[in-house]
Amino acid sequence: MSKQFDVVVIGGGPGGYIAAIRAAQLGFQVACIDEWKNAAGGPAPGGTCTNVGCIPSKALLQSSEHFDHANHHFADHGITAKDVKMDVAKMLARKDTVVKQNNDGILYLLKKNKVTFFHGRGSFASKAEGSYEIKVAGKTEESITGKNIIIATGSNARALPGTPFDEVNVLSNDGALRVGAVPKKLALIGSGVIGLEMGSVWRRLGAEVTILEGLPTFLGAVDEQIAKEAKKAFDKQGLKIELGVKVGEIVNGKKGVTVNYTNAKGEAVVLDADKLIISIGRVPNTIGLNTEAVGLQLDERGAIVVDADCKTNLPGVWAVGDVVRGPMLAHKAEEEGVAVAERIAGQHGHVNFNTIPWVIYTSPEIAWVGRTEQQLKADGVAYKAGTFPFLANGRARALGDTTGMVKMLADATTDEILGVHIVGPQASELIAEAVVAMEFRASAEDIARICHAHPSLSESTKEAALAVDKRTLNF
Ligand code: FAD
Ligand code: NAI
Repeated sequence: MSKQFDVVVIGGGPGGYIAAIRAAQLGFQVACIDEWKNAAGGPAPGGTCTNVGCIPSKALLQSSEHFDHANHHFADHGITAKDVKMDVAKMLARKDTVVKQNNDGILYLLKKNKVTFFHGRGSFASKAEGSYEIKVAGKTEESITGKNIIIATGSNARALPGTPFDEVNVLSNDGALRVGAVPKKLALIGSGVIGLEMGSVWRRLGAEVTILEGLPTFLGAVDEQIAKEAKKAFDKQGLKIELGVKVGEIVNGKKGVTVNYTNAKGEAVVLDADKLIISIGRVPNTIGLNTEAVGLQLDERGAIVVDADCKTNLPGVWAVGDVVRGPMLAHKAEEEGVAVAERIAGQHGHVNFNTIPWVIYTSPEIAWVGRTEQQLKADGVAYKAGTFPFLANGRARALGDTTGMVKMLADATTDEILGVHIVGPQASELIAEAVVAMEFRASAEDIARICHAHPSLSESTKEAALAVDKRTLNF
């Protein structure tokens, strides 16, 4: 007889492994199936995020930032660093170690929480009374059954039609994290989150980087003022971003890649590059799940259709993370995983989509939560705005990093914070205060009246809150 579980989670990325742990904490017998293999063919749970996403990209961003500092900023501190060299192989090896530490950490956590881990591909075999039979194809093949199924199979990089990823010259996020030597010329298509983060890594290491963006506006989802400030900083760094282009034929040759495109002025341009990274978004992944066997409903994008509670069209089958609607972010996937486990237990798990933070880990970092000024205008909401530049913050001056600002938007009548937008040093950490404030429906005045440590970057958030009431103290 096949092994029986209360909850079977398919996919061990941030959505899946967190759902499995939370379900186990709630007293269920839980299985988690993940097919990701490390270089030795062993299990490597953690999904895109751990293996080819959040974690390795941040490792490379850190290494390349150190290199950039040694080359361009140490001198300001009186430090002489001559002949600074980057050993790319060592940088990649360090990144791989960081990834492995995370893989191993997840395996440990699953074990600690008594989640049974299966290494292989999970697919629907059949539907029985009150449960589903799931086939696990790994080194061996076996069948397990689950009363509840949580699908967390993530997403894959979107390819440009006619230009498949070969991961040698034409790279997805996977190949972009494994480039063995600094390319002289690097082209990227798409100036979204991956384009900017990966473009930054290789620019800092010495590549001549050109990013081609189809839309006429830079970072359209970001508050305009913040996006403008970020663009100014990227221009200064030499990160070439061309907006409003139309990409035409791409030739993947022996020596590199040629991208033919039409620029915003309508001129035909030929761009030669050693490597091309295509970062034009991601597509939900249901490959190999055999959804047809049980009649699981997908939408026209291939995403699993779910309601606000992550319920699919099938009783007892749930889906979370990148494979469903909403932002493709690890922390969104995790929150959905926790909420679904709690709903299965009859509790009231909840994910607040209004307070999901976004971070782009460039330098300066860009982070935001809530609505932008352009969204508030479009929605006809009366608001007050307060900004505070890092230039006027003592800690930022001491750090030698005064680019950017904190911007707070609050309701004109109630003073409730509606959005916080940051471009500048450690925006990724600063945004947490704004998320907490918005979760507690704080007013700008609440933040303005809270004591913030001095000297700290977080004082800029307090000052932005004071600016909402036009009473900054340090600017
Ligand atoms: P995934 O992480 O994709 O995990 C899905 C897992 O399911 C995989 O391990 C896959 O092998 C497995 N799987 C799929 N099908 C099956 C099957 N049939 N059987 C068994 N296993 C299966 N987000 C952030 O919040 N912050 C960041 O800094 C960030 N950086 C990123 C950088 C890059 C370069 C990329 C590409 C993404 C980044 N993201 C970031 C997005 C983040 O990685 C995803 O939102 C997140 O991984 C989604 O989690 P998930 O659990 O839904 O899916
Ligand atoms: P993205 O959606 O962030 O950006 C894609 C960009 O490509 C857009 O600006 C789009 O206009 C452009 N584009 C699309 N088609 C194009 C074409 N044919 N020609 C030129 N430009 C085109 O997608 P990206 O960067 O691939 O990242 C995927 C997702 O992964 C992100 O949306 C995010 O959810 C997640 N991610 C999150 C990170 C973080 O949280 N720091 C880091 C990296 C990825």
